[in-house]
Amino acid sequence: MDTARIRVAPSLLSADFADLAAQIEQVEDAGVNLLHVDVMDGHFVPNITFGPMMVDVIRRLARSELDVHLMISEPARYLENFVRAGSDYITFHVEAVGEAGPLLRAARALGARPGIALNPATGLKDLDGVLEASDLVVMMTVNPGFGGQRFLTEVVPKIRALYELRAEMGWEFEIEVDGGVNVETAEVAAWAGGDILVAGAAVFKAEDPRQAVRDIAAAGLKGVAKREDNAAFPLAPPGQSC
Ligand code: DX5
Ligand code: ZN
Repeated sequence: MDTARIRVAPSLLSADFADLAAQIEQVEDAGVNLLHVDVMDGHFVPNITFGPMMVDVIRRLARSELDVHLMISEPARYLENFVRAGSDYITFHVEAVGEAGPLLRAARALGARPGIALNPATGLKDLDGVLEASDLVVMMTVNPGFGGQRFLTEVVPKIRALYELRAEMGWEFEIEVDGGVNVETAEVAAWAGGDILVAGAAVFKAEDPRQAVRDIAAAGLKGVAKREDNAAFPLAPPGQSC
């Protein structure tokens, strides 16, 4: 869903792959124009999903842009294949590379919007010199590897710090919050600074995925409004579950 301020990007990881075309159509019906595609290699994370061939299939089934999240070791080896398969945004993890800058620039030269992802335990310091070259910063609010995990509230202050740094520096990358986003946690994710909210289980395991997309977007908009009113943290403080 694309409201003025918040985009919900459903994560296909939780979709029914036996009926992928219908699943995509359903969320696009609700206004979605960005799909999150999780690539896992069984090495950087303990789970395996799929490669460029599947991105190409999704590309042909969807009208939406594709937000491809590489949770793989050595992303440099595969970057071009994933871009050629149809990635609009291509994101790799800062933890997976020695130096992110050259790879971000390579992704841009291939015609994609480059993104950098950060695990919950990785500090913003690791993005020094990297943010300038990124169009997207993916803040993980679960440890990557699986859908359906609990949102880690302790990441919220880091998202907020990134949001403030972006404003201070006049940068224009988008901030994406990925992991455990649902109708309860979308508000704080947006309040903290998320422009794009990824939601897998909360959309595709819902009884009505269309309604779930709308509800998550509405909760996100509430979070944006609270931030603009200078309201305090709208959920439980860090360390408590939400
Ligand atoms: C986690 C993936 C996420 C995941 C989100 O490793 O990067 O994109 O699919 O799924 P939920 O919303 O179910 O936490
Ligand atoms: Zn993801």
